[in-house]
Amino acid sequence: MREELSKEELLNLPYMNSNFSVEERVEDLLSRLTLKEKFKLSAGSWMWYTKPIRRLGIKSFAMHDGPHGVRVDIQGKTQATYFPSAICRASTWNPKLSEKFGIAIAQEVRDVGAQMLLAPGINIHRTPMCGRTFEYQTEDPYLNKKLVIPVVKGIQSQRIAACVKHFICNNQEINRFTINAEVSERALQEIYFPAFKAAVQEADAWSIMSSYNKINGIYGSEHHHLLREILMKKWGFIGFVVSDWNATDLTSSTESCINAGLSLEMPMQKKYLPIKMKNAFDEGKFTEEILNDNIKRLLRVMFLTGLFDDESTLPQGSRNTKEHQNLACEIAEEGLVLLKNEGNLLPLNMEKLSKIAVIGPNANLQTYLGGGSSTNFPPYEITPLKGLQTKCEGKIEITDTPANADVALIFAGLKHIKGMDAEGYDKDIFKLPQEQIDLIEKTVDENSNTIVIMVAGSPVSMIEWMEKVPVVMYAWYGGMEVGNALSALIFGEVNPSGKLPITFPKYLSDSPAHVSERTYPGDENVYYDEGIFVGYRYFDSKNIEPLFPFGYGLSYTTFVYENLRLDGEKISGDELVTITVDIINSGDCSGAEVVQLYIQDIVSSIERPIKELKGFKKIKLKPGEKSNVMFTIGKRDLSFFDENSRSWKTEEGEFNILIGSSSRDIRLKCKIEYIN
Ligand code: BGC
Repeated sequence: MREELSKEELLNLPYMNSNFSVEERVEDLLSRLTLKEKFKLSAGSWMWYTKPIRRLGIKSFAMHDGPHGVRVDIQGKTQATYFPSAICRASTWNPKLSEKFGIAIAQEVRDVGAQMLLAPGINIHRTPMCGRTFEYQTEDPYLNKKLVIPVVKGIQSQRIAACVKHFICNNQEINRFTINAEVSERALQEIYFPAFKAAVQEADAWSIMSSYNKINGIYGSEHHHLLREILMKKWGFIGFVVSDWNATDLTSSTESCINAGLSLEMPMQKKYLPIKMKNAFDEGKFTEEILNDNIKRLLRVMFLTGLFDDESTLPQGSRNTKEHQNLACEIAEEGLVLLKNEGNLLPLNMEKLSKIAVIGPNANLQTYLGGGSSTNFPPYEITPLKGLQTKCEGKIEITDTPANADVALIFAGLKHIKGMDAEGYDKDIFKLPQEQIDLIEKTVDENSNTIVIMVAGSPVSMIEWMEKVPVVMYAWYGGMEVGNALSALIFGEVNPSGKLPITFPKYLSDSPAHVSERTYPGDENVYYDEGIFVGYRYFDSKNIEPLFPFGYGLSYTTFVYENLRLDGEKISGDELVTITVDIINSGDCSGAEVVQLYIQDIVSSIERPIKELKGFKKIKLKPGEKSNVMFTIGKRDLSFFDENSRSWKTEEGEFNILIGSSSRDIRLKCKIEYIN
């Protein structure tokens, strides 16, 4: 039996002293832990906590979902801000907003007394049918990376750990616990890894969640190559890996998880049952050194998040503040995407209307129950109808009869239920439910000024009715302030500036994962036969016209692109080239444009995408205002992953630089040459 330390003795131990460095504190605490205590620390208890070790004053480390707001309990006793879904935030193409979101959500995590947020989710949108598409950011690795960095930095600036999930290739919900993703090394390197790698190397993410699925035959939580070799050794990850909840169930053994580098098994001990750990240890299946490495990673994050420190020395928490709610509104305003605006029907002019019809199943739908772990419990949610009622009060009558209204607004789309946008299942159909299609068609017949607003977290087929409707806007799941954001956009107080972070196909069969059963949904295995040709990379290379391309979104104003210039036409080695373009707001209202830069390798020894996003900038301009936008491009932006040499390679030759307003609206083009 170990001697109990008095409270005072405990507080005098070196690891309790915040004047020591994190590494000194980790080493000191580790040296005091018994083997049994290390086993105990390796698995959670209850849903969201590690086990405390009172002898040493180690409190429970608390972690909560999720990507759109902190959720402490499933009854909703603790309320928190419900931010727009990740796909909506990604549609802002605004890294600054992602950072603000990270800071705000972390303040809410601090306020509920936890240390880690189980977010952001950054799996690539491989198919629009994935039930969790709304929870993830994009189909493009560059955009994914540029948005995850500020989220992680924002969260961790508050000394709250981000847990970047799900590592890796958790791209569908069908058979999510068992499916084996067969994916090439090149696709991992070029498509699936970059955002995780950037989260580690450029944002120093403190935790990564391993995925349920297998990757090339091995479960994520016991994948030695992916966790130890790539994540830890190659990328230099210093944080800890936590299993997705119950993801260890099907892994082969206790020691395979330990040796792979899984520090924490959640939500409870299974493979990390102390007796199993002891037996495996006694049989020499893992060493204490390996276990120490796993434990050190967890302790490191406990110190980084201030678990042992006086709370008054930590960044202050706050929750449900007006500031956070305004931020939720701002993200929605910038994230909603205007897809079609024939005859400039939008924005509506309050002065000229007397009656609008507001109909459709999603007009008054609350979406905070996120269909799984992304569920939120906000103090309120302004639905589209509520937002419009407030905006129109005393000025415009709202009716539910399109025939005699000036304009009809139909709120169509999906919701967070099985078979739509929900965790644990993929979507059943790509279309809208038939009754909604009927409603749209009937309404357009009755009122030609029909505006369809889609409330959905993933692309939905719109080909059947799109032509008949003059205006379509995608509102995603826009968080607790969506109704206010929407009415500000509809009445032109805010100019839309969202751009699609995912390609909208005309038909599902056009989509790269949907060429056969083998590529989706698979059975035991799902084959990523499309390789690197995910999203617009596939539509471009196969010359398939999407319904709406990646990077697309309209504004109430127009932008002229001109005067593209370079500070050099040839680069060699590590030299950089600066590309500048002038953007002019040529319309008559203020607005923001997302200027996109794509690279095209003109001649290559292997097949490469027609273009790849390598830069973007969002700029706000007043009518008539002109501004220049600068990009810097180097060797790495021109490279591909060469499977033969297992390294990144930049080939000599010419590359086109394409500057545009979407991936299919390239306005200016120039060439550079790379010489080794
Ligand atoms: C989900 C994770 C989530 C965890 C805890 C899992 O089912 O895949 O994203 O963080 O549950 O709720």
